[in-house]
Amino acid sequence: MGKLLGKDLICTQEWSKEDLDRIFKLAFEMKQDRFGEKYLNILYRKQFFMFFFNPSVRTRQSFEAASTELGAHAQFLEPKAMRLKTAKSAGETIEDAAQVMDRYAYGLGIRMLENKVTYYGEGDSLIREYAKYTKMPIISMAHDKFHPCQGVADIMGWIEWLAEAGKQKTGSLATEFDSDGLVGKKLLITWSQGALCRSLCSVQEAALLAGRYGMDVTIAHPEGYEFDPDVIKATRENCEARGQEFTVTQDPEAGYEGAHVVYSRNWMSSEAYQDGELKKEEEIAKAQKYTDWTCTAARMKRTDNGIFTHPMPIDRGAEVEDAVASGPNSCIFDVAENRLHGQKAIMAATMAGFLD
Ligand code: CP
Repeated sequence: MGKLLGKDLICTQEWSKEDLDRIFKLAFEMKQDRFGEKYLNILYRKQFFMFFFNPSVRTRQSFEAASTELGAHAQFLEPKAMRLKTAKSAGETIEDAAQVMDRYAYGLGIRMLENKVTYYGEGDSLIREYAKYTKMPIISMAHDKFHPCQGVADIMGWIEWLAEAGKQKTGSLATEFDSDGLVGKKLLITWSQGALCRSLCSVQEAALLAGRYGMDVTIAHPEGYEFDPDVIKATRENCEARGQEFTVTQDPEAGYEGAHVVYSRNWMSSEAYQDGELKKEEEIAKAQKYTDWTCTAARMKRTDNGIFTHPMPIDRGAEVEDAVASGPNSCIFDVAENRLHGQKAIMAATMAGFLD
């Protein structure tokens, strides 16, 4: 069990399962007792910087709400309001900016992905560069490789919907963290059509975490939409360590059979970045050709009463039919809500040492 005060969260894979379990347990408790006295002043008068290179609905709003509920203040930062050095212009270095920010704030969240990076991995490098020069924790708010806060919210939501012990207790969603609640459940992460040309961050984070929490993981995508090979290797190892299966397929149908969780999402191809830029229009045009890659109600019927999950925003009609996204087995709004509770637990632990 490690000390969590000051610990960066760039990818959950870099945290021990024991430490993740502590975060999940606290997040479930915070959800049940949202305005409990013991949580209200954990970050009293402290500052959380939210540095957004890309737009957001859930991440910004949930971090702002989380900050307020813990007694902190969340400050919104964007690069155009700062004079930072870039490849094209003179300005302040990360080394200087990060050390100054470290004097003001107790935590720094950074989002950098999609068209704000010039190659896959640049967002990851930038976040790690900030982490090098700060003592305060750096939290990824989604970057080109990983989205740890989304992964935490996903696992919480799937446990709420699938952990039998918890559900039996309440008759609806599980209210307590059950670290074995997903063991043996089958997750399908399937590429889907869509015009949002997204980074791989959410699906890669989900695959890694699902393996660690004992799920069988199947990743389905057309040729050319492969995951990062390092993520594939780590996910395979995570699954094997729990005695679970890991499969990669280019068949849009196969993974639905017996699935308990279906995660249908568009992501960009391995050729998305060329000559230092994201070829978004080409990517969108290419994705339109794969007309057989939508999560449909007919496909969901082949699952084991499976739930539909998605980090949102959803490209309805392309990634998934409305009947599924808005159907009785859709956990999307519970997962979205869990961003708040999961991030409160992460902030309390890393910015205040609440679990140390
Ligand atoms: N899931 C997620 O990160 O949503 P936003 O892009 O709206 O923040």
